[in-house]
Amino acid sequence: MSDNPRVTSGIPGLDEMLGGGFVPRSAALVRGAPGTGKTTFGLQYLIEGVQRSEPGLFVSFEEFPQSLYRDAASLGWDLPALEAQGKLHLLFTSPQVLLHSLAAPESSIAQRFQAQGIQRVVIDSLTHFTQHTPDPQELRAIYNQVVNALRREDVTALYLAEEMRSDYTSEERGRLSFVVDCLIMLRYLEIDSTIQRAMTILKMRSSRHDTAIHSYAIGPNGITIGKPLEGKSGLLSGLVKRSMISTVE
Ligand SMILES: Nc1ncnc2c1ncn2[C@@H]1O[C@H](COP(=O)(O)OP(=O)(O)OP(=O)(O)O)[C@@H](O)[C@H]1O
Ligand SMILES: [Mg+2]
Repeated sequence: MSDNPRVTSGIPGLDEMLGGGFVPRSAALVRGAPGTGKTTFGLQYLIEGVQRSEPGLFVSFEEFPQSLYRDAASLGWDLPALEAQGKLHLLFTSPQVLLHSLAAPESSIAQRFQAQGIQRVVIDSLTHFTQHTPDPQELRAIYNQVVNALRREDVTALYLAEEMRSDYTSEERGRLSFVVDCLIMLRYLEIDSTIQRAMTILKMRSSRHDTAIHSYAIGPNGITIGKPLEGKSGLLSGLVKRSMISTVE
């Protein structure tokens, strides 16, 4: 697979961490606490697709169009204009409707993938499927259904998910991390009395990848990866609440 061209993330510094970018037609999960930049990550990935003539679809269960447009505009991305040009597509729906639609091969969403030549998909966020069922087995089946349906569509998919504080240490419900090919974790860390954002790749099938924990920043053009955090230990073991960040060392 090493001679396969990779799918670039659009996030400066991340492709190097990914060994060149996402593996084409793979499923990546970006998991993080509230406000860590998951939606920004997803939009930035699709904006990169716009620049490379790789049309993308952003599926939102969460935000209303106006609020997504406003957030994107603050990062310099004019989503309505890109939609009007057919370079990027937005779908505001519910988990139930999406599941139903993906299950039917001739559904409107499958037709949409073909008609619009969609190559990149972002789903914001998979966490909404947890409300679908209390049963972990059924939840895992749902995750498999979604991921496999998008694999059939030949797209490189990015799934966003909220990280529960217990996910890293205890068994995560639905075992989403096992279903995907690539797992990227976004975290808040308290280091020397300041809050820093940190990103790490916990898993990547069929590729080498960087195992360091990197700082990252969200600025006027989106996310940029910073230096690896060196000389610290226990970085991934603590935290994560917006209002109460605990010490990790
Ligand atoms: N234009 C901008 N300039 C600088 N920072 C920004 C900008 N837009 C967003 N941010 C930062 O990104 C954070 C939120 O990003 P985003 O909405 O992508 O996070 P999220 O993980 O999707 O959040 P949620 O869990 O609430 O959905 C903000 O709290 C802010 O710190
Ligand atoms: Mg979000």
